[in-house]
Amino acid sequence: CGIVGYIGRRPAQAIVTEGLKRLEYRGYDSFGVATLDTVITITKKSGRISDAGGSLAGLKGSIGIGHTRWATHGEPNDRNAHPHLDCAERIAVVHNGIIENYAELRRELTERGHTFRSETDTEVIAHLVEERYDGDLLATLEEIIPLLSGSFAILLLAEGEDRIVAARMASPLVIGIGDRELLAASDVTPLIENTRRVIYLEDGDSVELTRNGYRIRNGGMPVEREITEVDWDIEDARLGGFPHYMQKEIFEQPQVFYNTLQAVRESPDALDLLRGRDRLTIVACGSSYHAGLLYKYLLEMYCGVAVLVEQGSEFKYYPPPLSGTVIGISQSGETADTLAALKMAQSRGCKTVAVTNVVGSTITRMTDATIHLRAGPEMSVAATKSFIAQLAAGLGITDALTDGSHAEENTRINVRIEEILTIPITEAVGLCSSASSLFYIGRGLFYPAALEGALKMKEISYIHAEGYAAGELKHGPFALLSGETPVIAIAIPGAAYPVMLSNIKEIKARGAPVIAIGLAGDIELAELADIFIELPKAPESTAVATVSVLLQRLAYETADSLGRDIDKPRNLAKSVTVE
Ligand code: G6P
Repeated sequence: CGIVGYIGRRPAQAIVTEGLKRLEYRGYDSFGVATLDTVITITKKSGRISDAGGSLAGLKGSIGIGHTRWATHGEPNDRNAHPHLDCAERIAVVHNGIIENYAELRRELTERGHTFRSETDTEVIAHLVEERYDGDLLATLEEIIPLLSGSFAILLLAEGEDRIVAARMASPLVIGIGDRELLAASDVTPLIENTRRVIYLEDGDSVELTRNGYRIRNGGMPVEREITEVDWDIEDARLGGFPHYMQKEIFEQPQVFYNTLQAVRESPDALDLLRGRDRLTIVACGSSYHAGLLYKYLLEMYCGVAVLVEQGSEFKYYPPPLSGTVIGISQSGETADTLAALKMAQSRGCKTVAVTNVVGSTITRMTDATIHLRAGPEMSVAATKSFIAQLAAGLGITDALTDGSHAEENTRINVRIEEILTIPITEAVGLCSSASSLFYIGRGLFYPAALEGALKMKEISYIHAEGYAAGELKHGPFALLSGETPVIAIAIPGAAYPVMLSNIKEIKARGAPVIAIGLAGDIELAELADIFIELPKAPESTAVATVSVLLQRLAYETADSLGRDIDKPRNLAKSVTVE
């Protein structure tokens, strides 16, 4: 979910609404805004803020809070949309995260006479504040925080209070400091339209925003927090003539790759924690997990380091025996499963390194060192440029651990990526868009690339797609092969190339059409394949970048031809801050 708050000299509704549009990638199944003039006025609905039309026009006042939701408790309908109110409708709250003990709190509050209007965990906050409120909103919020277990970023309004109060515990919250105005939001994207000066709050912080300034407390005591200048460009968060953010972000990748390689060189502390280890552990989720698998192949093949890659959600509850350094890879730096896994690793005495795209994110503050990806804000829910940046960081780390043996090759990759952006793939797109199921296969580095290619395809086109290590397809999935199940086979010359060709022949023998991705001039592959996509000649560690970009385009163009909602696929959210 995403939250935004505003207090200042301008009408709050427009600013909060714009802010929510920027945060929609965090969740978009319902939205709501509350403003405070003399009374609180609310509009909340299922659906998307971008489709709100004139429904928010009546909200008056220069204080407001808003929310865009990714449902956790209660289906996405008007009632469950935030903000939530107390019984007297004088207190409004928006919340990102989960109140784990809400059922118990709700029972107690109901016994004490409170009536609930929604099925959400959030509503308990409004009622708890109502019970204790004595004219000091910040103190009341601080009083109820110890009663809540779970994760939360909360913004609160109360009638008669010319302020917003806020609190953060294990869910991101950033304050924006403007010219006689203050904002609060889940991340910086809605802030940069208004100000570049931000404060990343810490866990346990509570804040009061008034027209005259802000004060931050932690454990009831005043604390100072550093003001950071955000260097993201506003244009980075705009479409700039592209039909979708995803396409824009795919096209940004040559530059992103180049910038991120630089960034690795500027991260000596992180590299020191990785050098000299004979084993490393990586935790991540989603596309970042696939990047972690790429790191495994890179570090094992080129650096002789044994690498264990674990999904954050599994690792926390079933941690392997641990020692040394654990790397957490996370675009947002806020994924709850990854953060929980890193905490677990720290409790076992491990050093931790973050690889993330978001400066000031939670992961950067909890780990011993960070490698910052230089992808800029990624607005599309489906990760593209952040994945390529993660790969660039992996190649940069490989280079650093092998004393520069990859430097020359790495510096050419951005040019190779550029070439992929215009390769014609219409025929392959046609075949994929008429399929109801697809398989992606590869070996070595191209196995994680296949997993990521399949994930992209299913996320945005809604076509069922599975990535497999090519040798595994015969152990079961072969039963599903037919003329209706195209197989996308990545066959780049390397150790497994001859056996990859055999795999393709086996697939062809079972009647499945093959889209082969190989290197220019590969006559044998071209003859085997139904559709052959030629990439520029390059070694494997370069080809993994070009193949990944090509598969992003295949997913994008397929989804586009099917008229899908590419930047906001159904049921998903970009940043998942619940476990
Ligand atoms: C969500 C997103 C994915 C992303 C995953 C991990 O599920 O939809 O695109 O890969 O979270 O996110 P992170 O920010 O930790 O990389």
